[in-house]
Amino acid sequence: MPPSTAGRATGIWRWGDLLPLRDRRHAVSLGEGDTPLLDITETLALPGVTVHVKCEHLNPTGSFKDRIAAVALSLVRERSLLGVLGTSSGNGGAAASAYGARAGRHVVLLALVTTPPEKLVQIRSTGATVHLVEGLGHDPRTTRLLAEEVRAAGARHGYLPFLTGGRYAPEMMTGARTIAYELAEQAAATTHVYAPVGGGGLYASLWRGYRDLAGAVPRLVAVQPSGCPTVRDALAGGPGVLTRPSTTVVSGLQVATLFDDDVPQAVAGSAGHLTEVTDDQVMAAHARLIRNGVFVEPAGATALAGLLADAEAGRLPAGSRAVLVATGAGWKDGGALRNLTDPRPPELWTAGIDELLDSLPSGPGRRGAQPEEATG
Ligand SMILES: Cc1ncc(COP(=O)(O)O)c(C=O)c1O
Repeated sequence: MPPSTAGRATGIWRWGDLLPLRDRRHAVSLGEGDTPLLDITETLALPGVTVHVKCEHLNPTGSFKDRIAAVALSLVRERSLLGVLGTSSGNGGAAASAYGARAGRHVVLLALVTTPPEKLVQIRSTGATVHLVEGLGHDPRTTRLLAEEVRAAGARHGYLPFLTGGRYAPEMMTGARTIAYELAEQAAATTHVYAPVGGGGLYASLWRGYRDLAGAVPRLVAVQPSGCPTVRDALAGGPGVLTRPSTTVVSGLQVATLFDDDVPQAVAGSAGHLTEVTDDQVMAAHARLIRNGVFVEPAGATALAGLLADAEAGRLPAGSRAVLVATGAGWKDGGALRNLTDPRPPELWTAGIDELLDSLPSGPGRRGAQPEEATG
C-alpha cells in the first residue's frame, strides 16, 4: 500500500510557516494552490524563447484570488471575526464568497457596475451579499475613498477588510506570494515573469514572494492596459492614481488607483519593467490562448499580450525563459467568449455522420491557431 498523504499540508499550506496564521487548525481550504505550469513554447514559436503558463485559472473558484481568500477567511476564523467586507471586480468577491461559505462566515461585497454577470452569479449563488457601486474601479476618487471607508468600517464592525492590495490588507496578501514560492520550485531558471496589473497586489506579491526566498529574482514584467495607466504614473514618481476614469474593458484590470505601494520597488528591485498593451492586444492574446485550449478570461491573457508586445519590440532576447501568470478562467466572462464565437446557433444536422466528418478540412487538426483566425 502507498504511504498515506492524509494530514500532509498541500497547496498554499505547504508554506504555512510563511503565512500569518498562528494555528494551522484554523485554515480554511478548498484545495487552492499548486497549480500546473503549462509549456506553450511550441505554440508561440518565438525564436530562442521558452514560455510557460502558470495556470492560476485552475484554482477552486477560477482565479488566483483563492490564495488570498483562503488566508483571509482563515484569519477571520482564528480571530473570531464576523466575516469579510470588501470591494471587488468579481474574482476576489467570488473567492471570498466561496471561502466564506466554507467557513460559515458573512461575506459583504461592493462590486463594479461592469462586473461580468458570470462573476456576479458565482458570488450570489453562495448567499453572499453584493451591491454594485457607480464609479468603483473606473473613477479614481470613488475607488480610493471607498477602499478607505471599507477598511475603517470593517474594523469597527468586526469584519476583516477584503481589499486585495498590500496597502490595505498586507496579511491576507501573503497568500499571493505562494505563486512565487511555487514558481521557484517549478521553474527555477525563469528569466521573466509576466503578470497583469489591476490594483497591483498580485505583481507586488510576486516580488515579495521571490524576496522571501532570498534566491534569484526573475525580471517581473508588469502588464497593464493602456486605458488604465496607474503604473506609468507611479514609475514617474506619482501616486499611481489616474487623473481621469479608466477606459479599459478588461474585467479585473479596471482599477483607477494602485492598491499596493510596492509596485515601483518591485519593478526596480527585479530589474523588471512596465509593458502597456491595448485592449485589442489583450483580446488577440485571449483568442490565441482559447484557440489553443488554454481557457482563460481576458485578464488571464494579458500577460501573453505583454510578452508578445515585448517580443515584437525586441525586448525579449533569445535565451529568455518566460512565465505568464494566467490569472482567471475563461467561463468568468461569457461576453468575451461570445466575441470569439459564431453568433448563429449550431445548425441542425440531418445528414449522416460520414458526411459530417467528410465536411471537415483534411489533415490532423488546427494546431497553433493564430489570432486572425480566432477573431474572424
Ligand atoms: C483575473 C484577474 N487578473 C488580474 C487581476 C489583477 O490583480 P491585481 O488587482 O492584484 O493587480 C485581477 C483582479 O481582480 C483579476 O481578477
